[in-house]
Amino acid sequence: MKPRHLISIQDLSAQEIEALFRETAGLKKARGSSTALAGKTWGLLFEKPSVRTRVSFEVGIAQLGGRSLYIGPVELQNGKRESAKDVACVLSRYLDGIIARTFRHEDVVEMARWAVVPVVNGLSDVEHPCQALADGFTLWEKFGKVRGVRIAFVGDGNNVCHSLMLLAALLGAHLKLACPAGYGPRKDLLRWAKERAARSGGSILSTGSAGEAASDAQVVYTDVWASMGQEKERSKRGKIFAGYQVNAKLMKRAAPQALFMHCLPAHRGEEVTDEVMDSRHSIVYDQAENRLHAQKAVLLRWTARGGGKR
Ligand code: CP
Ligand code: NVA
Repeated sequence: MKPRHLISIQDLSAQEIEALFRETAGLKKARGSSTALAGKTWGLLFEKPSVRTRVSFEVGIAQLGGRSLYIGPVELQNGKRESAKDVACVLSRYLDGIIARTFRHEDVVEMARWAVVPVVNGLSDVEHPCQALADGFTLWEKFGKVRGVRIAFVGDGNNVCHSLMLLAALLGAHLKLACPAGYGPRKDLLRWAKERAARSGGSILSTGSAGEAASDAQVVYTDVWASMGQEKERSKRGKIFAGYQVNAKLMKRAAPQALFMHCLPAHRGEEVTDEVMDSRHSIVYDQAENRLHAQKAVLLRWTARGGGKR
């Protein structure tokens, strides 16, 4: 039996995402511990640093009665020590599931190709599905639904933007993206999202203007201008993205009481001002908290689906 992996939001249907939200809500309400993962060990294979993903997964696994094992950049050495295939095949013999944070998206895809236990993408250069699930759940909590919610994403068309866009498309939200020329989302993913949105009753629109995207939005979302692995481009990007800062002036273009979202970590003073981050409309810490609850729902479902031949 081949395990099911969670590499992209494209791996999920709207129904499955909504079922995950319902499960997440139950787990959040219960706030309890269980023995659902007793005897199971999930490994966290991380090529890059993490606060939220690592801690929320490790705490979530512990609350479900399982064990977690952190395998960091020193052991992984960015694919230099051994291939993603060998890592996946070897770890499948020890672990019951793998959460992988890689630089190259192809590496997490390659691990999933060979692993006989479930592989969950904990952030690659193309996607951040666990973040999008937690964010979608956060919207669901705040608005009672995701369908029809008007979201603006302002900034870099990066991993977080991709997963949010795919989820918005599946769930029928209206997403406007404002990215500088040459920094928009990947064309194939944008096309996929537009097609799905046409079917779900949502819409995906890209514009170069932050003001236009934010106009009448119920939610304004941003992320760093230089992601992990792009540190050398930070000053160049700072100039290119200067007109894409989420500040009080931009938030005024949005609907009254519009919410502010950010996956964190934030570079305060760059893509977002302190004033917006610390405002009462900022829900960034709710998003971070919901990583824990949403990922517990993922762990429960994916552990149940895993268990391939060892
Ligand atoms: N949002 C998020 O994934 O944060 P970390 O990089 O700290 O895990
Ligand atoms: N886009 C950011 C997200 C971090 C959670 C990065 O890849 O560094």
